[in-house]
Amino acid sequence: AEHKYEHIQLTTPRPGVALITLNRPKALNALFSPLINELNTCTSSLDRDTSISAIVLTGSPKAFAAGADIKEMAPKTFSDAYGHDFIESWSNITRIKKPVIGAVNGYALGGGCELAMMCDILYASKTATFGQPEIKLGILPGAGGTQRLAHAVGKAKAMHLILTGDNFSGEQAEQWGLVAKCFDDAEACVNGALDTAEKIAGYSKIAVKACKEAVNKSQDLGVREGVEYERRLFHGLFGSQDQKIGMEAFANKKKAEWTHS
Ligand code: HXC
Repeated sequence: AEHKYEHIQLTTPRPGVALITLNRPKALNALFSPLINELNTCTSSLDRDTSISAIVLTGSPKAFAAGADIKEMAPKTFSDAYGHDFIESWSNITRIKKPVIGAVNGYALGGGCELAMMCDILYASKTATFGQPEIKLGILPGAGGTQRLAHAVGKAKAMHLILTGDNFSGEQAEQWGLVAKCFDDAEACVNGALDTAEKIAGYSKIAVKACKEAVNKSQDLGVREGVEYERRLFHGLFGSQDQKIGMEAFANKKKAEWTHS
């Protein structure tokens, strides 16, 4: 489906790969409701689009996103926030079944850092500045930051970062395991994310979906339940055509030609 977006750009730079670029340069991609609404419309339509297998999410070289829009948030009352479940729809991107690869360059602060951490694979460059500076505004990270940062880097570091509001670099994020890979510059980071997305787009869609679902379960379940969940998905894939195609191709020393479903 064709959509006209104002605060994001959507392109298809590689076969099967959609690239979403946050595009609100005047405010360093500060996240406000119109942008989040477009992002949600875009990601849910890409999830239904059978020509797309993987999604890359990036910002500009200067900013992935400098946080929630402070000017939009400032006047909110408790009943505005609670009554409209402020921030709840910001995590819609985590409901997408296709893999989302985040490519972070420049600032990823507050809600920007939280949005990055919602991605399935996260890449950054040496230009990246991450941080959860909410403490400096008299609030706390409200879009999953306290939970996802603690899961990714451990409680000690997460507590330190969230209580001090100190920034951290793309290289630190890689060392601590928040980021899968840190590139030298912004261009290499986006290209690296597109390369990975293209590679994933070359695999069986149903197998990719199951892999993502199972790994994400590891964040919510204990190991025993998680392994059982994994095994059910594993059994289920023996009912797919792609399992037969993949294994027969191996036996015949041929390249697998996956179904398009
Ligand atoms: C609204 C923002 C913004 C933000 C930047 N801008 N960040 N507007 N909300 N989060 C705007 C500035 O007001 C300015 O607009 C323009 O973008 C350029 O920013 P500058 O500050 O002039 O740029 P620079 O000097 O390069 O400094 C960059 C910066 C700084 C260090 C990133 O902008 C900054 O500290 N921003 C706020 C970061 C932050 O606290 N984020 C967390 C927000 S709280 P004008 O009109 O003046 O040109 C949050 C809560 C999440 O995210 C909880 C649930 C989601």
